[in-house]
Amino acid sequence: MCGIVGYIGKRSGTKVVLDGLEALEYRGYDSAGIALIDGEKSQVFKEVGRVSGLIKTISKQSDVSAPLVMGHTRWATHGGVTAENAHPQTNNDQTIFVVHNGIIENFSEIRTKLEASGYNFKSQTDTEVIPNLIDFYLKQLDSFEAAFKAALADVRGAYSIVAISVREPNTLYAARLSSPLVIGVGDGEHIVASDPSAIMDHTKKVIYLEDYDVAVVTAEKVQVQNLKDHNRIEPKVELLDFDNEQAVLGDFPNFMLKEIFEAPATIKTATLGRARADTGTVKLGGLETVLRQLKHIERIVIVACGTASYAGLIGEYLIEELAGIPVEVHLASEFKYRDEPFSRSTVLLAISQSGETADTIAAIKKVEDFGVLRLGVVNAVGSTIARMTDAGVYCHAGPERAVASTKAFIAQVTVLALIALHLSDGKHPQFKPLLKELEALPAKAQAVLDSAEDIKKIAEKYANYDSFLYIGRNISFPSALEGALKLKETSYIHAEGCAAGEMKHGTLALIDENFPTFAMATDSPLLEKTYSNIQEIRARGGPVVAIATEGNKAIKELADDVIYIPKCEEELQPILQQVAAQLFAYYIASKLGRNIDRPRNLAKSVTVE
Ligand code: M6R
Repeated sequence: MCGIVGYIGKRSGTKVVLDGLEALEYRGYDSAGIALIDGEKSQVFKEVGRVSGLIKTISKQSDVSAPLVMGHTRWATHGGVTAENAHPQTNNDQTIFVVHNGIIENFSEIRTKLEASGYNFKSQTDTEVIPNLIDFYLKQLDSFEAAFKAALADVRGAYSIVAISVREPNTLYAARLSSPLVIGVGDGEHIVASDPSAIMDHTKKVIYLEDYDVAVVTAEKVQVQNLKDHNRIEPKVELLDFDNEQAVLGDFPNFMLKEIFEAPATIKTATLGRARADTGTVKLGGLETVLRQLKHIERIVIVACGTASYAGLIGEYLIEELAGIPVEVHLASEFKYRDEPFSRSTVLLAISQSGETADTIAAIKKVEDFGVLRLGVVNAVGSTIARMTDAGVYCHAGPERAVASTKAFIAQVTVLALIALHLSDGKHPQFKPLLKELEALPAKAQAVLDSAEDIKKIAEKYANYDSFLYIGRNISFPSALEGALKLKETSYIHAEGCAAGEMKHGTLALIDENFPTFAMATDSPLLEKTYSNIQEIRARGGPVVAIATEGNKAIKELADDVIYIPKCEEELQPILQQVAAQLFAYYIASKLGRNIDRPRNLAKSVTVE
């Protein structure tokens, strides 16, 4: 989390950096700051709150143009949300400025060492040790570059760092380890940022830094050295093939609603040129290079976090049913610390919207030496996970701005269905029906969206409950888990997902008239069992909202409120259920006046462990 932007060039970088920070605000939004260096003159501005507050403060200043500028939007890890803890952090002399994303795990040890040498600390951040450590080494070494590298050699943890100094007004220093940084290459200027969205309005040419890379950046040149092998690297300039257009709000009040309404287009784009019902084919270009290896898979281990992990659980049902390959889904944050038996016939499949999630990256790194095939289902093109996996399938959902993942989940499940169909080699009886269903799905998702007003009325009725249970069976069970996550992260209402058949083993004790249940009750061979579970809830006075298949009249007798979705093959029902569940969560959060796109305490891209 945290967004970083740095500018060096022939024009003033202030606006470039502030615009970039706004584009990166999804990464953290509790405070923001900026440092400007023009010759020997430096200025620092910091504000608690959103980047817009910082922009307001800066707009009142008379002279804020500078050719060397860097900024930061923070998601607090160490130290509260205060101006002192906001970045840039500086050394005691206020000559060196640093912005940082990640965590310096041994900061307290370094701080003690620096305090013994006479350094004082004003913040509670881990970051403040970095400018002081650079300062410490600068007194012993002959250049800023050498001091910067010496400081990096002392720190443990994860970081992307940008450092500037009044002693070097023509240079910007950047480094990364397990946290993303990309450099935009412009005409007589360079822009360093946490991700390309802060750059792409200025240039499409970018250099991605890799782990242990240190970049020395001037207006004209980028020099990169890898600290692990000490080689100077010829930076590889790549071309971005996407733009910021999709990240514009249009007539929608916020990105979450806009992104929910993009479900039909998302399904179309994810399947476009990949699946065809008329020819009965599934072609996944991103897997072409590993087709031979895919023939010998004996097990798939899916690693992911949050919403992506629930998409992964749905993928487990799909792949096991259609392709007959055993699948395990691991939360990436747990996977990296387990002793997991791995053979070369196991494939690791990482799912991530951002492609930058630290836990998922660590899970992929864990198997680096096992010689297993690493696949990715990633949305952000060119992201770290997209680049570190051997092959994969892009979600192509376009930028997702709201912290709550909506259209990315729809795309992930669609792509996992394609992968399952691909691995089935067309042999499963559901192969053709599912290909047909995938073609029909955008219109069906649109039909759910067309009932948004009805869903809103139901949601508003339930906005004042403190807790919610989400239930489902079979492939609708992970859908229930995802529904619960969506409600809690957007509305701050406690919600938990439970397999409908598991309730009686404990969770049912929670149910009374103040504890409503959201039941996934769409058509399935297990529907009657779900009815029984709904009866058990009703018998204890629990209100029930059910998602059911159009035409199901019986459910009206059972549930207090029903949200209908079109008839759909069971394997793909979670997609339609989630369009409805996302709207339900959205309208409750909206009724409660929550910050829809930026829920408290969260960030879009979780780049710390
Ligand atoms: O970018 P990723 O898909 O790797 O992110 C994983 C989770 O952090 C993410 O899905 C998170 O749970 C969302 N806030 C859910 O809406």
